[in-house]
Amino acid sequence: MGGVAVIIGVPSEVGEEDRVALVPPVAAELIEDGHEVIVETGAGEDAGWADNEYESVGCTVLDDRAAVFEDATVILQVEALGNHEDPDLERYREGQIVVGMLGPYEVNDEQLETLADRGVSAFALELIPRISRAQSMDALSSQASLAGYKSCLLAAEELPKMFPMEMTAAGTIQPADVFVIGAGVAGLKAIATAERLGASVKAYDIRLEAKRDVESLGAEFVELDLETEGSGDEEGYAREMDEEFYAAQREQMEQVVPESDVLITTAAIPGAPAPELVSTEMIEAMDDGSVVVDLSAATGGNCEPTVPGETIEHDGVTVHGPTDLPSQISHTASQQYANNVANFLENFLEEGEPAFDFEDEIIESTLLVHDGTVRNPHKDDGDADADEDDADETDTDSNGDTEEVSEA
Ligand code: NAI
Repeated sequence: MGGVAVIIGVPSEVGEEDRVALVPPVAAELIEDGHEVIVETGAGEDAGWADNEYESVGCTVLDDRAAVFEDATVILQVEALGNHEDPDLERYREGQIVVGMLGPYEVNDEQLETLADRGVSAFALELIPRISRAQSMDALSSQASLAGYKSCLLAAEELPKMFPMEMTAAGTIQPADVFVIGAGVAGLKAIATAERLGASVKAYDIRLEAKRDVESLGAEFVELDLETEGSGDEEGYAREMDEEFYAAQREQMEQVVPESDVLITTAAIPGAPAPELVSTEMIEAMDDGSVVVDLSAATGGNCEPTVPGETIEHDGVTVHGPTDLPSQISHTASQQYANNVANFLENFLEEGEPAFDFEDEIIESTLLVHDGTVRNPHKDDGDADADEDDADETDTDSNGDTEEVSEA
C-alpha cells in the first residue's frame, strides 16, 4: 500500500482506567498496513508500555492531547462516552471515526447528538454480534474472560482456606467449595481458574446449553427445578425473565449458596439490569470468612448486599463488587483489546480509506452515530425511538437481543 492510508490516534484513557486501546506490537501491524499511528504521551504507561516502545515501532508520540484529536481520522479508546463524562466531546471533528467501548446502554442522548452534530462516526464495540466471524473483534468477551480469571484469584487470595485438597502428614484438608452463577464468558473462565487451583467447583446457568461447557471444565452443573425454555437467544445471551421466575430461582439457590466458601456471580442480560439472584439472607448463611465476588456489580449486581465498586463485610462474609477487573490486568487486557480493535478496523479500512458496508452485520450492529444521525436502538430506557428518523434502522437491527430483552 503506497503512502499513508489513515492516521490513527490513541489518546490516554481518562479517569482510573489503566488499559490503553493500542499496544506497540499491534500498532506495528497497522503501520505495516500503511497507516500512521499517533499516541498521546504516557498513553500506555499504566499498562506497561513506555512511549519509546511506541516510537520504536514507528508511532509518533505527541505531548498534546488536542493535537491527537486534530490530526487523527480514527480515534481509538478503551472507554469513552457512556461510562463517564467525556472531556473530549468538543474535540471530535467532521469525518472522524471513534471506536471504543462507548457504553451504548448508558450513554446519554446529548453525548451522541454532539457527535452527530460534529459529523462523527462512532462504533461501540459492546455491540459486536456474537457470530463466529466477529469473535476476533469481541472486546466484551476478551475483557470479561480476564475479569472471570481475576475474580477467582481475588477470592482465592482472600479466603482463609486453600483451594486444593491436601493430603499431608498433618492431615487431610478438603478442597474449597466454589459456586459460580452464570456460565457465560466470565463465568467459564472463573470455573476453569478455580478448577486449576484445585477447588471443588459447582456452577449454574439459566441456559441449559451451558451444562456441557461447565462439565467439560470438570465442574458440576447444578440443576434447578425451573422452566427455562426461551431463556437464551441464538447468540448465547440470556433473556430477561419475570420476577416470579427469579423468586423461584432464589428459593432454590438457598440450598447451594450457604454451602459455598466462594461465590462468584456473573449472571447478565445485555442491556438490562443484572438479575438479583442471591439474597442477603443467603450471604448471612455462608460461613464466616467466605468470599463473594459479584462481577455484575456495574449493572446492579446479582447479590443483594453488593455495592458497585466497593468491597464490604457483611456478617463475616466479604462481598466484592468490582467494576474494573480488566483494568487491574491492564497489560494483557490492553493486548487483547488492541487485537480486537485492529481486527475490527479491517471492516472498514481494508482498502485504506474508510468505507462502511452497511450490509455487513458487524457495521450495522455497532455504528451508533453516522452521517449526522444518532442510530442507537440499544439504550435500555424504553426509548428505542431516540431518533424517529432512525426507526427503520432500529427495526433492522441485526443484533436483535435488546429488543427481545425489553419485551420480556
Ligand atoms: P455473558 O452474557 O457471556 O454471561 C452471562 C451469563 O449469565 C449467561 O451465560 C447467561 O445465560 C447467565 N444468566 C443470565 N441470567 C441468569 C440467571 N437468572 N441465572 C443464572 N444465569 C443467568 O456475560 P459475560 O461476558 O460473561 O459477563 C458477565 C458479567 O461480568 C457481566 O455483568 C459483565 O458486565 C461483567 N463484567 C464485569 C467486569 C468487572 O470488572 N467487574 C469486567 C467484564 C465483565
